[in-house]
Amino acid sequence: MKFSILSVAAAAVAVAMAAPLTKRATDNNLVVGYWVPWGDVPVSALDMSKYTHINYGFGVLWKGAASPATVTIDRYYDGDNIQALVARGNTAGVPILISIGGWTGSQTFSTVAASASLRKTFINNALVFVRQNTAGPEAENPNGWGMDGIDIDWEYPGREGAPCNTYAPQDSANYLLLLKELRAQLDLEFPTKRKLITAAVRVQPFDDASGKPLSNVSAYVPYFDWISIMAYDIMGSWSATTGGNAPFNTPPSPGDPFSFVQSINSWRSAGWPAEKLVVGTAFYGRSQTATVNMDTQNPITMYAPHAATVPKGGPGDSNESNFYCNEGSEWSGQWKWKELRGGPLSAGPTSPSAGWTRHWDNATQTPWLFNAGTKTFISYDDVQSLTVKVNHVKSQGLKGVMLWDMSYDYNSELINVLNQVHGPSPTSTSGTATTTSYTTTTTTTASTTITTAPTTTTTTTTTATTSTTTPGGACVGVAAWNSATVYGTAGTKVTYGGYLYTNQWWTQNETPSSSDWGVWKRGAAC
Ligand SMILES: *[C@@H]1O[C@H](CO)[C@@H](O)[C@H](O)[C@H]1NC(C)=O
Ligand SMILES: *[C@@H]1O[C@H](CO)[C@@H](O)[C@H](O)[C@H]1NC(C)=O
Ligand SMILES: *[C@@H]1O[C@H](CO)[C@@H](O)[C@H](O)[C@H]1NC(C)=O
Repeated sequence: MKFSILSVAAAAVAVAMAAPLTKRATDNNLVVGYWVPWGDVPVSALDMSKYTHINYGFGVLWKGAASPATVTIDRYYDGDNIQALVARGNTAGVPILISIGGWTGSQTFSTVAASASLRKTFINNALVFVRQNTAGPEAENPNGWGMDGIDIDWEYPGREGAPCNTYAPQDSANYLLLLKELRAQLDLEFPTKRKLITAAVRVQPFDDASGKPLSNVSAYVPYFDWISIMAYDIMGSWSATTGGNAPFNTPPSPGDPFSFVQSINSWRSAGWPAEKLVVGTAFYGRSQTATVNMDTQNPITMYAPHAATVPKGGPGDSNESNFYCNEGSEWSGQWKWKELRGGPLSAGPTSPSAGWTRHWDNATQTPWLFNAGTKTFISYDDVQSLTVKVNHVKSQGLKGVMLWDMSYDYNSELINVLNQVHGPSPTSTSGTATTTSYTTTTTTTASTTITTAPTTTTTTTTTATTSTTTPGGACVGVAAWNSATVYGTAGTKVTYGGYLYTNQWWTQNETPSSSDWGVWKRGAAC
């Protein structure tokens, strides 16, 4: 089925293009996926039509290599997968990038970036991934992997990240030198085909020499085709309380002061352009063991004290220490979406199984699960929360969405939401996000318990109206607000009290008002 659409599009430009025309080529909105070999989803099983770009994770910089500038991959484990991905990418018109770094593979970036000769060696090593192989198809060590670009996943310039990393105050300044030289060398070797340079970045701009986020990142802009913000891993075992893994709006205290919206605002206000900004989403949740029953806290919030030890997450969670950087033997507490759907959410994406309660947090616009028997708390993203994020990316005119990682989905439930980035823009959602944190009074009603499945993908503009007056003007044909209706998609219009209203995020039973901060934004009078 998917190929019929692609081949119709391709036929129109068959003379000019070798590969089919992708969604990227038609609407310039990106869906960037990370594929990792340990995800155990074979390349042959991927639905390439759902991605515009795929990053292969990872080529690794680690202290155990021959040189700090060596980009380590396993010739067979990684190499065979890279070849398979590049082949499928070429057929489907989906560029494949090598991602260099990652949490445990960023150990020597600082050392490399600080030295002119190591930068040169690193750039030559990195270019092996984008060159064509001329050593013959059976070569033990191919001299090219035919990839389309380089994604730099330095975690992080100017701050430690994993405990095995070198880092230094001059990292961000040196990063700029590295980028300048990398761009120049790529353009020199590939004068007719632009090879991409992208990066995965923190929720704040790179740190300056004093350890503060740079207030002006303009100098980096020309070298990147785009950057993807890792807008997740925000609260976890390192936080004082339980909380959101990937909040949409920055929550009030005791939530940590980072979020999807904050990260976009931080980069944008440092001069990063919207058309080069991709924002990352988590296809997984994080768990903690609370020390109280979060179903009966007063008020019910997603914040509670937690045990020092992280519980085992989904069935695939591991407590083995990492090969490249031993951080000890602890569970990650991660639940992949497919593991949630096989356990706590096996009855349906918003229907908790026996023993679990699903809650929705208003400020972070994310769901959380609680098991009163084991006191397990899980913060995660689902169709409902990702819809809010995708709509925001569209309303802000950003370049697209990224996801970590491609193996975590269940029946394409989440990737299908991200693909809505290709659809029409939601109307009047520019007021969705707020840049400041809220007063603590909003915390008291921040959560609602949902015991039945809301229909998050089918909006309800056709629901029976209870209005007794006939609306006119801009309100013609728009249904009256109904307190029982779930308005699952931001941008849904209703009429109420003689005005048109548009919801800014998922809502039910919140009366439209003229407040600047409410879910309903008031429009024209009818
Ligand atoms: C940001 O830096 C660029 C040079 O990198 C400079 O041209 C620009 O004026 C700076 N912007 C601000 C607001 O300081
Ligand atoms: C790691 O998990 C295994 C079970 O999978 C368990 O036997 C072992 O004790 C755990 N190790 C630690 C350090 O928690
Ligand atoms: C929901 O969150 C918004 C900000 O995201 C806030 O303005 C509003 O008051 C909250 N509503 C409730 C019912 O807490």
